[in-house]
Amino acid sequence: MASLDFSGKRVLVAGGTSGINLGVAEGFAKASAAVFVFSRDAAKVGAAVERLSAHGGRAGGGAADVRDMGAVEGVVARAAAEMGGLDVVISGAAGNFLALVNGMSSNAFRTVMEIDLLGTFHVMRAVFPHLTKPGASVVNITAPQSWRAMSGQGHVCAAKAGVDQLTRTLALEWGHHGVRINSVSPGPIADSGGVARLYSDEAALERRRASIPLERLGSNEDIANMCLFLASDMAGYVTGALIPVDGGAGLTMEAMRLDPRIGARGGNA
Ligand code: COA
Repeated sequence: MASLDFSGKRVLVAGGTSGINLGVAEGFAKASAAVFVFSRDAAKVGAAVERLSAHGGRAGGGAADVRDMGAVEGVVARAAAEMGGLDVVISGAAGNFLALVNGMSSNAFRTVMEIDLLGTFHVMRAVFPHLTKPGASVVNITAPQSWRAMSGQGHVCAAKAGVDQLTRTLALEWGHHGVRINSVSPGPIADSGGVARLYSDEAALERRRASIPLERLGSNEDIANMCLFLASDMAGYVTGALIPVDGGAGLTMEAMRLDPRIGARGGNA
């Protein structure tokens, strides 16, 4: 349960209409912030806004594909106009599928680079003019793939490593404006698309769960709580950090290795 109060704060969550990102948006809604979410799927936007509104505060949304700079600029301008500015930005739109590099087309690799890395760049460029300066806080949602090699994830590993370097670079460039920016790396989160993709077999998931120092999978609320902390004044001296929220899972993670004989388009890790 969030205990930080974000009354009067304006929060934008890119990719915030499903999964972990929606959980983060809900964390801010529960903490009394005004929240605006966007993703490319208008139906998901409508459902997410309804869900966020149930927490009693202001909630809005729009449809835009993070790969399209003009569309991102448009939806971000709308969010800022509707809420009166942006105090907090969470950027988490991502795409993923399992595929070995040898079996990936140029378009397959480009698709994930464009959603994860170029999309993050677009969001960062679009939000900056609207951020509260000084005082705004930005969080990019990254992944263990940014530092841990995983076969079947070459596109995601490359893209998320890029996202983290963008976070660090912007910490240098935006510090002077009083804007903080950090990356949060979720570990295995229960009921998430990532866990379903990487551990489709129950026994493998149970082995993974047992290997985590805190002996449980994470929850959306665990990730939301870290984002709330980073967005609060309590984290006023934290910028350029890459923070795993994973119960220590990154310390015990086996290298993910698809069997190269299973074929080019992936399979279970
Ligand atoms: N293995 C190899 N290549 C694959 C693939 C797979 N499992 N899935 C998609 N691709 C390739 C496609 O074949 C296509 O390449 P091509 O034009 O050379 O054939 C390219 O990737 C783009 O795929 P497409 O489905 O047209 O892209 P999209 O923009 O509609 O969707 C994703 C891209 C990543 C969003 C989609 O794969 C998806 O829905 N993934 C699951 C949901 C998800 O990623 N959620 C986020 C969790 S982090």
